Amino acid sequence: MKEKIKVLFICLGNICRSPAAEGAFLNLVKQKNLTHLFEIDSCGTSGYHDGDLADPRTRKIAEKRGIHLTHRSRKLNKKDLTYFDYLLVMDENNLDDVRSLTNDINIQGKIILFGKFRSDSGAPIVPDPYYKNEIAFEMVQNLVEDCSSGFLNFLGVDECLK
Ligand code: 4NP
Repeated sequence: MKEKIKVLFICLGNICRSPAAEGAFLNLVKQKNLTHLFEIDSCGTSGYHDGDLADPRTRKIAEKRGIHLTHRSRKLNKKDLTYFDYLLVMDENNLDDVRSLTNDINIQGKIILFGKFRSDSGAPIVPDPYYKNEIAFEMVQNLVEDCSSGFLNFLGVDECLK
C-alpha cells in the first residue's frame, strides 16, 4: 500500500483555526472517498490550551456545516516536523515560529501558509478570530473550507481513486 499523505494544520492555540482546518479538510476528503490516502492532524505553536476541545464558537460553526470536531489541543513538537509531509500554518507568526524550530531545508520546504490555497486574491492568511466575534469565526470556517479545496487540487489526488 502507498504511504499516506501526512498533513498537519498549525495555529497558535490549536482551538480555533487549525482544528477548523483539520475538520474541513477531513470532511472534504471523506466526501471524495479519499480518506484512506491521508493522515490528518492539527496542533498549536503554544501549549496554552493543551487537552482542550476546540473553542465552542469554532465547534458551533463547524457543526452547522455537518462537521463534528473532537480534536484535543496539543502543542507542536520536533517529531512533527519530520513526520508530517505538509506543515500548513495559518499566519505569519505561525510561519516564523515554526521556521525558527529548524535549519533543515527539507523541513523548511514543508512549511506553507494554508491561505496560499484560497481561490480568491485575498491575503494568504487565516486571521486569528479568538478575540473577535462570531462573524470572524464564520469567516475562518469559510476560508478553511475554500483553502481545503485548493490544497486538495494542488495535491492532484482527485483522480487517484480507490
Ligand atoms: P487559534 O486561536 O490560534 O486559532 O487556536 C487562538 C486561541 C487561543 C489564543 C490565541 C489564539 N490564546 O491566546 O489563548
